[in-house]
Amino acid sequence: MSIEILKASSVTKRFGAMVAVNRVDFTLYEHDVAGIIGSNGAGKTTFFNLLTGLFAPEEGSILHKGVDVTRMTPQQRVARGITRTFQLTSTFDTLSVTDNLVLAYYRAFHKASMWNLFFTKMKRFHDEPKIISILETFDLLPVRDRMVKNLSLGEKRRLEIAMAVLAEPEVLLLDEPLAGLAESEIKGVLAVLRRHIGKQTILIVEHKISHVQDFVQRLMVMHEGRVIAEGGYEECLNHPEVRKSYWQIDDSATENSSNG
Ligand SMILES: Nc1ncnc2c1ncn2[C@@H]1O[C@H](COP(=O)(O)OP(=O)(O)O)[C@@H](O)[C@H]1O
Ligand SMILES: [Mg+2]
Repeated sequence: MSIEILKASSVTKRFGAMVAVNRVDFTLYEHDVAGIIGSNGAGKTTFFNLLTGLFAPEEGSILHKGVDVTRMTPQQRVARGITRTFQLTSTFDTLSVTDNLVLAYYRAFHKASMWNLFFTKMKRFHDEPKIISILETFDLLPVRDRMVKNLSLGEKRRLEIAMAVLAEPEVLLLDEPLAGLAESEIKGVLAVLRRHIGKQTILIVEHKISHVQDFVQRLMVMHEGRVIAEGGYEECLNHPEVRKSYWQIDDSATENSSNG
């Protein structure tokens, strides 16, 4: 039987009169690769923030492995081990790719005093097996010594995800990791994410349904705060409510989409 990592039951979040998330039920099982799809303003990021604890819902509950975390702060959820890094980590633009990875790794596993060591002894960690292996997995070996500010957007996004993965989160939650990328870069990011399927619980938010077609096992489609469909890709694509709002979802197909 699969472990329920996160379970949201009928959660509602309002901003004034506006209902951003409307009685949403969602369960994320261990090693799930699940996607949340929906047009801009559908409530995807707000639902995400309910899972991470940035907001508390007005109604409903969120369980982590059966324990109620609905009112817990993000820090308390991190302490429970839900995840060390919920979202994409910000990078240090004037440090190299490898130095960013070393920092992400030691930030996750060592105490703050380590920070003093980082800047003087960082080089000694460059050949850590974990660092080398993540550089390989994320196709970053060729740019390992490059300053982050000189990376392409696709390389930088791979680095951000690599930094999140290094912290060994229980759940890798990605809110629009493909936003702003060109098609070729999207392929590269999805290819590296695919290597984590079966090893990592992944929840990915995306507004273009075709991007996650070959990636996720399970989809939840949101529209105006509600879940309008759930299931496999085909099932969701052919769902009447999804078809009704599908063009809205796929309006972005012609643009290089990015949203907040
Ligand atoms: N902090 C906030 N304050 C007020 N309204 C918000 C806030 N965050 C989101 N909203 C509103 O909630 C709705 C859902 O937004 P969001 O969750 O960001 O959608 P999505 O991520 O699917 O594009 C939108 O109408 C948005 O304007
Ligand atoms: Mg969003």
